[in-house]
Amino acid sequence: MNLKGTVCWKSPSNIALVKYWGKYGRQLPKNPSISFTLSNAHTFTEIDYEYVENVNSGPTLEFAFEGESNKAFGEKILNFLNSISDELPFINSLNLNIRSHNSFPHSSGIASSASSMSALVLCILSIEQKIKSLSEIDLKKASHLSRLASGSASRSVFEKIAVWGKTEFVPDSSNEFAVPYLDGIDPIFFDFHDDILIASAAEKSVSSTAGHALMNDNPYGSARFQQANDHMGAIIKAMQNGDLNTFGKIVEKEALTLHALMMASDPPYILLEPNTISMIRAIQTFRKEKNVPVFFTLDAGPNIHLLYPHKNLEDVKALKSELIKLCIDGRIIEDHVGNGPKQIK
Ligand code: DP6
Repeated sequence: MNLKGTVCWKSPSNIALVKYWGKYGRQLPKNPSISFTLSNAHTFTEIDYEYVENVNSGPTLEFAFEGESNKAFGEKILNFLNSISDELPFINSLNLNIRSHNSFPHSSGIASSASSMSALVLCILSIEQKIKSLSEIDLKKASHLSRLASGSASRSVFEKIAVWGKTEFVPDSSNEFAVPYLDGIDPIFFDFHDDILIASAAEKSVSSTAGHALMNDNPYGSARFQQANDHMGAIIKAMQNGDLNTFGKIVEKEALTLHALMMASDPPYILLEPNTISMIRAIQTFRKEKNVPVFFTLDAGPNIHLLYPHKNLEDVKALKSELIKLCIDGRIIEDHVGNGPKQIK
């Protein structure tokens, strides 16, 4: 059987509330994590495929990012596809032309492996669906395969809130894949805002993958993994009770701990910029003075994620007009909790 066609998915980024930082084995997390799935920050991936049944010489691919051929990314994708061809042998019979672009500006300092890898995996599973005439795509499998490409990508597959990593607080949780986690959560968290404030658009000096590896010898490693477990229990409780104060305390502690771990690595490194610190101070002062539930978190980079409930959208405007002055070229990506990946027909 020979088959040709085009598949296309749009998949979002996500922001971790309790962070995955440290891994072992084949992309397994040293602690559980929980995240908001975003909406506006997404990757759009389209693949023209040709399936030639009796030729198993391995996939061939061409890859273009933002309209330009990109050999380095193409090689990474090829390595990843080869690494999962034991699970999906049809991959060895594919010729692929992959085109991908991000909704956020290329130079925003947001390199989202979560959105790009989950979009790629969903496209590959759509191809499998066509070849095998499957009725639907198994999201657990999509999460598992996305994890093998990039840990945080495992969580982007699900709408709103996802948990990845075994934890006693989420019965069906696993290190192998993420699970959606909505049951019992206060709906105030289902349309939370996340405005991404760009403090630097420069490429990171240390990649996340290198950062994870440094956790192996971090003297605070075991205390950190215990803390993350405890934070999972506490944040889930706070999210069930709609307890914004506790939620915010844990989220901010997680963000600062992540960066403290980087500073305590060997060699130590700093990804925060002076404006990151100025923004943190402005947010904390505003919250105290105005009594508005607005909090920050950070990724493995200098950009601030400003988190607040939808009902406080108006209240936060004054703060945002201050913060925008501290952003590179006044750049903010306004995002919110979203509905997960979408297949584009
Ligand atoms: C700080 O998922 O990018 O954003 O598995 O090596 O691809 P790899 O790492 P990645 O790490 C994300 C780290 C984080 C926290 C998080 O998203 O949980």
